[in-house]
Amino acid sequence: MPVVALIGAQWGDEGKGHIVDWLASRARLVVRCTGGNNAGHTVVNQYGTFKLHLIPSGIFDPNIVNIIGSGTVIDPEVLLQEIDALRERGIQTNKLFISGRAHIIMPYHVLQDQIQEQARGDAKIGTTGRGIGPTYADKMNRNGIRADDLLHEETLLGRLRAVLEDKNQMLTKVYGVKPISLHDTYLRYLDYGHRLAEHVVDVHPILHRALEKDLAILLEGAQGAMLDIDHGTYPYVTSSPPGAAGACQGAGIGPSKLNSVIGVCKAYTTRVGQGCFPTELGKDDPEAAVLRQIGKPWAEVGTTTGRLRRIGWFDAVMGRYAAEINGIDTLVITKLDVLDSLPRIKVCVGYRLHDSVIEYPPMTVAVLEQVEPIYEEFSGWQTPTSDIRRFQDLPDEAQVYVARLCQLVGARLGAVSVGPEREQMIKVAEIF
Ligand code: IMP
Repeated sequence: MPVVALIGAQWGDEGKGHIVDWLASRARLVVRCTGGNNAGHTVVNQYGTFKLHLIPSGIFDPNIVNIIGSGTVIDPEVLLQEIDALRERGIQTNKLFISGRAHIIMPYHVLQDQIQEQARGDAKIGTTGRGIGPTYADKMNRNGIRADDLLHEETLLGRLRAVLEDKNQMLTKVYGVKPISLHDTYLRYLDYGHRLAEHVVDVHPILHRALEKDLAILLEGAQGAMLDIDHGTYPYVTSSPPGAAGACQGAGIGPSKLNSVIGVCKAYTTRVGQGCFPTELGKDDPEAAVLRQIGKPWAEVGTTTGRLRRIGWFDAVMGRYAAEINGIDTLVITKLDVLDSLPRIKVCVGYRLHDSVIEYPPMTVAVLEQVEPIYEEFSGWQTPTSDIRRFQDLPDEAQVYVARLCQLVGARLGAVSVGPEREQMIKVAEIF
């Protein structure tokens, strides 16, 4: 049975949650591998509309084991709220397991994130303000607190005492804000530990028994390839590796076990936060208003922060690069229906930099900011596609458009989504 990584091939928000929800029934395990509650999926299914930040989208199927992997960072309060909200609506969470190795987002991380962003002024990254970067920084600096620490009173107190001494120096002397109380924080996080205890385990045996038994495993990526800490548009990136290699690392599964990498991208591009975006449409551009879908379930508004997403044409230079750095073999294109009313659609097929044409995104944002997209134009189909379920029933123009995206990116087409509902999918190839 396959192990499949499903990752975002753009700047996040590609609709991965919708695709995981659609594919999950074929998996026995779904693993969220990296990132934290900076991510947000909206899942629409027979139980209603759910906004998930940390819990894998396989949670709606009671037969699926859902794992929040070692590479994630967890805000326990947010996670508990998510668990409670699911339980209140009758969704079982007894097969949700949290890696004891995952790092915990502490109150000082959130403060640090927000204060640092403010201090950056015009050079701000546009983070989600959820403490993600500082938590990963402490993890790398070996100052982190892990989920398993919340279950052990003495360990938690010891680690917290050591870390807070340092953090409070920084908070009071550098940032001029109030120190964080050891006593209150200890009690609060101990309580989170008690409430999460039934879920926090060593996930390694679960995963490796599943591999031995040949069970299907879906590695659910968060964010997107262009937000990758190593390969994205640095410094306008997140602090984790959201790609296929990061998925393996975050889950604790060797790359040789991976059978396929599915890249999810929208039929156009969006981005939240700062950073260059070569194909971005102007705020007043009428096409941007069409693509933004305000008032609809697919509206281009961030699930986590409520920020309006920036909108642009599909960027095949980024798409091809994302496919190459992640070994994407299958493309799932989401939100094709959003393009339904447009008479003309553009796709960026290359960048012009001064007098030359370049095929790869430049390494530095200062150079990326100077590129001019070279567009290929397509006729729109101007017909609703939301009720179509077979690729051959799509209007010819839509088929041509989708086929060209796959050709440019260099991956086969797996599926196309034409609406937010689970069944609004056009399956093209067996992908899981
Ligand atoms: P951070 O991950 O909160 O540190 O934010 C860093 C950058 O990544 C910002 O530009 C965020 O807007 C962006 N980002 C983080 N998570 C997501 C996501 O799930 N979707 C889209 N953008 C994200």
